Amino acid sequence: MPFSKIAESIGASATLKLNAEAGRMRAAGQPVIHLGGGEPKSKAPDSAVEAGVEMLRSGEIRYTPASGTPAMKDAIIDYTEKHYGRRVDRTNVMASAGVKQALMVALIALVDPGDEVVYPVPYWVSYPEMVRLTGGVPVAVRPADGSFQPTVEEMIAAIGPRTKVLLLNSPNNPSGKVFDRPFLEGIITHCQKMGVVILMDDIYHRLVFDGRQPVACYDCTDVSVDESCLVVLNGVSKQYAMTGFRIGWAVGPRDLIKVMSNIQSHQSGNPCSLSQHAAVAAIHGAQGSVSQLRGELEKNRDELVRLIREIPGLKVDNPEGTFYCFCDFSVFDADSTRLAAYLLEKVQVVTVPGIEFGLEGFLRLSYCGDIKDVVEGLRRIKWILDADGTPELQAGDTVFTR
Ligand SMILES: Cc1ncc(COP(=O)(O)O)c(C=O)c1O
Repeated sequence: MPFSKIAESIGASATLKLNAEAGRMRAAGQPVIHLGGGEPKSKAPDSAVEAGVEMLRSGEIRYTPASGTPAMKDAIIDYTEKHYGRRVDRTNVMASAGVKQALMVALIALVDPGDEVVYPVPYWVSYPEMVRLTGGVPVAVRPADGSFQPTVEEMIAAIGPRTKVLLLNSPNNPSGKVFDRPFLEGIITHCQKMGVVILMDDIYHRLVFDGRQPVACYDCTDVSVDESCLVVLNGVSKQYAMTGFRIGWAVGPRDLIKVMSNIQSHQSGNPCSLSQHAAVAAIHGAQGSVSQLRGELEKNRDELVRLIREIPGLKVDNPEGTFYCFCDFSVFDADSTRLAAYLLEKVQVVTVPGIEFGLEGFLRLSYCGDIKDVVEGLRRIKWILDADGTPELQAGDTVFTR
């Protein structure tokens, strides 16, 4: 069957492919350790579950306005005021089926074929594919100093006459880097002047460690939300462990939000009414689960980084947020796809190749799962990478051999 040019340019999500492979191996009884995951293992907050059950019992599960229910919009408004210090209007917000859909709809609203979308390396795996889905051209900016945050000058140098959008994700998937205020201020000031829209993917913004506060982008500008170049994307997936509910949102200038809502109305109708109801309850309910999750992730991060530092040759920066660690394995194999396949085959540990995030030689290790998996995964990796190690490694009933 002949497919469209756009369809032919899109690859399958690398992380979903790995999840499928790990699932297949697990189903076959193999003791797979999954360090490739992208969702917290904790449960959704009680408030969300109870609200969802109550609505389901009512049997009234209907269409909603394309951009979300009034209650959902009010919850997003409250959230924005609490975490970003700006009171916005209902016309400034739109709920979507996850940040993924909010991002996609924003890109469709802003990007014409041939327009450029700029973002730093390493980047979330979906960014290049999402840009290609609009016919746009992805432009990845790699920091010359080998760090996880480019300079303002490097970002500005990548902005040309065809640049419509800049995509920023902090705390960053995969590096865990939290971009600093001078960086954000510099870029926001420049983009405001040049008429380039910044999509701020803040999905991990409450999952930051060591007492850090993420920089709220609206603190970097005095421009009103309607005149601003900023569009903030956030959602319930990570912070409330509500990935399957599929609720995210966009906050931005009302003209853009209106266009995005029109697009969404034809694309998916509206975000699921049941999920919106549950998300409102999570936002308004007790917030203890967020701090608990943050605390657990921080402990997992500490343990993972400690274990990585015990493996000679690996280089790692302490992640400042998220639940990922992006580690330089190039001393063992500069080809990250080959190395990830080798680890899966030899010791049944799932990692994600750095090339999927634009940086060869790295692997992304997740620590959102059980700490026992983190410890066992690193034990196996350490063994297989140690040329002088024992010929065999016992893992439960399984014996791995070199
Ligand atoms: C950087 C980033 N943005 C967006 C998403 C998607 O979030 P959602 O579940 O709200 O669609 C993810 C999920 O892994 C992510 O890592």
